[in-house]
Amino acid sequence: MHYLEQLNWRYATKRYNGEPVPETKLQNILEAIKLAPSSLGLQPFEVLVIEDPELREKLAPAAYNQPAITESGALLVFTVWKNITNDQVDAYIDQMARIRQVPVESLDGFKNMILANTEGKSAADLFQWNARQAYIALGYATAAAALEKIDSTPMEGFNPEKVNEILGLDENGTSAVLLLALGFRDEEKDPLAKLPKVRREVSLRELSFNMN
Ligand SMILES: Cc1cc2nc3c(=O)[nH]c(=O)nc-3n(C[C@H](O)[C@H](O)[C@H](O)COP(=O)(O)O)c2cc1C
Repeated sequence: MHYLEQLNWRYATKRYNGEPVPETKLQNILEAIKLAPSSLGLQPFEVLVIEDPELREKLAPAAYNQPAITESGALLVFTVWKNITNDQVDAYIDQMARIRQVPVESLDGFKNMILANTEGKSAADLFQWNARQAYIALGYATAAAALEKIDSTPMEGFNPEKVNEILGLDENGTSAVLLLALGFRDEEKDPLAKLPKVRREVSLRELSFNMN
């Protein structure tokens, strides 16, 4: 199987058949999210996995009752740090020192580089920066799901304030930026299931410079 076949197979699924996502596949998709690159390696987001039907019923009105919220097998909520605190930077530096078995002080230069990027920026700017990292992870998640033959629906169509309130996110300084439904398509009910993809060619230009 070539991965491009699977990327053609995936589509933003509108209707699911309710089957749960097998645990190993779900874990593999979460692992792919973990492996996504992020600016400075900070991973400034968390992913909540919601399988509980009652909680998803509660969330549905906050996402314009998109059927994927309740009909899919699992719902991932990408939540983003609303800020970047010195404690979060310290925790990252400590983890790096531990994993790479180097003294924490040897990472002072790197730590100062991170702080130079975060200090003086408004919380709103840091939030937007953090959100961009979550979108990269979303890309990894949709591609990984396709390779696992799991359907997915990325969703920005929801009210973050309402989702934050239902999930109690405000209290821990995070905010929902993206939802990702995972599961198995219902081909009978989903009018998009058999439609061909609509894509422009991405224009690629090769530039060559003659230095003489
Ligand atoms: C960031 C993002 C947000 C999206 N939000 C929604 C959404 O709220 N509801 C939905 O049904 N599809 C949503 N989509 C899916 C897009 O509409 C879909 O990817 C696009 O039309 C291309 O179609 P395809 O992915 O099926 O090939 C979203 C996609 C992305 C990447």
